[in-house]
Amino acid sequence: MADPYPAYAELRARGRVVRYEPTNQWLVPHHADVSALLRDRRLGRTYQHRFSHEEFGRSAPPAAHEPFRTLNDHGMLDLEPPDHTRIRRLVSKAFTPRTVERLKPYVRGLADELVGGLVRDGGGDLLTDVAEPLPVAVIAEMLGIPEADRAQLRPWSAAICGMYELNPSEDTAARAVRASVEFSEYLRELIAERRGRPGDDLISGLIAAHDEDDRLTEQEMISTAVLLLNAGHEATVNATVNGWWALFRNPAQLAALRADHSLIPTAIEELMRYDTPLQLFERWVLDDIEIDGTVIPRGAEIAMLFGSANHDPAVFPDPTRLDLARADNPHISFSAGIHYCIGAPLARLELTASMTALLNRAPTLTLAKDPTRKPNFVIRGLDGLSVEVR
Ligand code: HEM
Repeated sequence: MADPYPAYAELRARGRVVRYEPTNQWLVPHHADVSALLRDRRLGRTYQHRFSHEEFGRSAPPAAHEPFRTLNDHGMLDLEPPDHTRIRRLVSKAFTPRTVERLKPYVRGLADELVGGLVRDGGGDLLTDVAEPLPVAVIAEMLGIPEADRAQLRPWSAAICGMYELNPSEDTAARAVRASVEFSEYLRELIAERRGRPGDDLISGLIAAHDEDDRLTEQEMISTAVLLLNAGHEATVNATVNGWWALFRNPAQLAALRADHSLIPTAIEELMRYDTPLQLFERWVLDDIEIDGTVIPRGAEIAMLFGSANHDPAVFPDPTRLDLARADNPHISFSAGIHYCIGAPLARLELTASMTALLNRAPTLTLAKDPTRKPNFVIRGLDGLSVEVR
């Protein structure tokens, strides 16, 4: 977890697909394969649109996990066509580059205000003072979550995201189930209230799609809102702190960036490649596939190693070197294929806004003490990032 990149290099040397018994998965570590498999329709984020658990040779999840499963399984990320296509189409308008462009003044203003607070205090925790409040406020604003309720979003999201780690414990599952029940209940009430008083927000848009056009069930509406709220901040928070931690460890690169802000766009992409915020994504094999002579049968599970793909020397020369000017950078951090991150333009806007504000308003930002890593593998982040502004 501390530094998975040397282990990835060993895995890549072992082959294009490596059987991993502890999680009963096939690991795929090369960029070309990850990139191709993300677009391969013989794989799916779910199998339930085609097979029952028994037909697929899997057992049904424990009944006690039901509230989490119901919430998770009706969000677009865990659906396949045609349901995925129908729901993605409904929300995609809110995330086009042009729509996101209109948010620019608001996101920039917020980033300035948050960084201003950090500067006034002579430093603080970059995670809780800037990295977290920015994307939480933006996605909450887009959905129309009242300001007073926003503090609950982080703990609910963190509890639910525990289930995306490998082999979650029963404790983790119990926390995720509780959060799923509370989060769903909260949204059910908010939806009822908003139905009476619609606004210019995404939840009102989802209600209209349900009530007027019958294009979305009540459960899909709740699951979509939760997915957007969680996915809308988790990875951005981690990309921000992983990114600044990488900059502090590479002072010459940070100095180059401080001297030349035109590096910001390539720097954002390089930091997302260099320390990939989401390390692993899984797919079910819906129809047998063959990789390098190995047949992977229907019912198997593939784990694509995004962090490894992003360090594959076949695509990225000198991959362990942070190069903020790296221009040819086809990193896979936002995925590819039908589940390609719908929030990528928004994430880029937020990362650019916070980096610009930090470079402009806190040009003397330094690391106060080495951070500790969150004990997670899939969602890669830090517990905090103590900084000083002198
Ligand atoms: C640095 C920040 C972010 C990263 C690294 C990231 C990464 C990803 C990845 C890797 C996937 C696809 C997973 C797969 O293929 O199985 C994804 C999907 C998704 N992301 Fe992001 N994301 C980020 C920010 C955001 C933001 C700001 C939003 C705001 C709404 C968002 C919303 C979504 C949604 C809704 C999906 C599901 C898309 C689908 O299934 O069609 N993400 N993201």
